[in-house]
Amino acid sequence: MQITFTKEVSKNPDSVVIGCFDKNVLADEVKTLDKDLQKSIPDALEQQRFRGNVGETASLTLANGTGALRVLVVGLGKKEDLDAATFERIGGHLFSALKRSRDEAVEVRLDSLNAKGLESGETLAHVAFGAQLKGWYSDKYKVKKKLKKADAVALKKLSFLTSSEKEAKAAFGTLAPVAEGVFFARDLVTEPANVLYPETMAKRLKELEKLGVKVEVLGEKELEKLGMGSLLSVGRGSDRESKVVVMQWNGGKAKDAPVAFIGKGVTFDTGGISLKPPGGMWDMKYDMAGAGAVSGLMKALAGRKAKVNAVGVVGLVENMVSGSATRPGDVVTSMSGQTIEILNTDAEGRLVLADVLWYTQDRFKPQFMVNLATLTGAILVALGSEYAGLFSNNDALSQKLLKSGEKTAELLWRFPLSKAFDKMLDSDIADMKNITTGLNGRKAGSITAGQFLQRFVNDVPWAHLDIAGMAWADVDFPTCARGATGFGVRLLNNLVRDHYEGS
Ligand code: BES
Ligand code: ZN
Ligand code: ZN
Repeated sequence: MQITFTKEVSKNPDSVVIGCFDKNVLADEVKTLDKDLQKSIPDALEQQRFRGNVGETASLTLANGTGALRVLVVGLGKKEDLDAATFERIGGHLFSALKRSRDEAVEVRLDSLNAKGLESGETLAHVAFGAQLKGWYSDKYKVKKKLKKADAVALKKLSFLTSSEKEAKAAFGTLAPVAEGVFFARDLVTEPANVLYPETMAKRLKELEKLGVKVEVLGEKELEKLGMGSLLSVGRGSDRESKVVVMQWNGGKAKDAPVAFIGKGVTFDTGGISLKPPGGMWDMKYDMAGAGAVSGLMKALAGRKAKVNAVGVVGLVENMVSGSATRPGDVVTSMSGQTIEILNTDAEGRLVLADVLWYTQDRFKPQFMVNLATLTGAILVALGSEYAGLFSNNDALSQKLLKSGEKTAELLWRFPLSKAFDKMLDSDIADMKNITTGLNGRKAGSITAGQFLQRFVNDVPWAHLDIAGMAWADVDFPTCARGATGFGVRLLNNLVRDHYEGS
């Protein structure tokens, strides 16, 4: 789909799009239509029980003596609620309606609108961004269905009529690479685990070199040498070699310390010897979504040439069952030197992150570290699929993350961390155990997981995002079809853009 911004009115578009606020108040662009056609719109909308809410669209065929015009009316909701994220949702709904109508070339007339704090050009760029995000799909493994052309999306050209062509193009120029980053994350997360495993994922990340990202791949020999006994214990039962991939985007000043993003990349999580029940185990192909989001973010930052030094470090392992798998009760030594008694091999994400966090702060001395992980089922119990959990040792960083979440509609909810929770991880025979046991067994599961990670963070500002409930959608959303969401890419791109880019 080609997206353009232009002040030239299109010749013979298949449809023209106009907006309508709640209570069916049409946006100004209705006046650009032929007078006779305009008159018939209110009745036509009423017939479809259209109310102008976000999420509603009405496809109208209007005719007068000289010809017919297809008009798609898109609901805008209440004027005072119109922010950038709402315009993205509107763009998503617009795309869905155009997919149904099978139009090929469409002209969007929404130039009179602007989101809170944005110019109209920027606003239109967000509508386009939403449409683009909704347009992603994956049919790589649909051999039979792909042959039927009728199932493919017909829409080829979406042009936005605007008097602020330059501003719109500039704004979209920084959003389109973010969409590419989201798509990269979704593509990786969608892949089945027989195709995407540590080595093949590392290969995919190597492709970011084309965009100027420096990519290093560390194999098991190097990880042994570094002393990553915690991370390596997770991959012991797998035939696939564990990897750590380090991605660096240096778009800032040489002297500036980087910002760091760390991802859990368990390419499949059987639970290990503490085996998961079979129902739904297939979901565990997305247990690398944290690493997927970090990779997507690096692609977005490089794609839009962000003026920041950023590192992305992902720990890639497969948690399998075999004669060489880690047993419950085994004790391992992490890169930090601290020992861990592994009481449950299914609490493996924290074992991976422990070493990757330590490695990242040790090597890069970053300004801050944010890690993303599908870490606990308990976060789904607490927050469902509405918010990701935020755990942090730093209020300022948390505030920035919460705000970015609101701006991008990738919402976060902060949980507490404390000495009392930390103590629950003390082990009888090692420095710590990887789960809580006894009377504390199932209590505060997401917090104790965060608490475990904090034992591998020194003084650096750090935040952990538990995205187990957000990485995969069971139903369609306005800017995302069901399946992999790419959650985190937009949020963290916004964090960097708003706070960490020099001019
Ligand atoms: N990968 C899972 C968490 C998960 C659950 C992600 C559901 C996505 C959807 C994680 O490795 C895990 O198994 N966690 C255990 C921890 C427990 C053993 C302390 C859990 O949540 O049950
Ligand atoms: Zn697990
Ligand atoms: Zn896991």
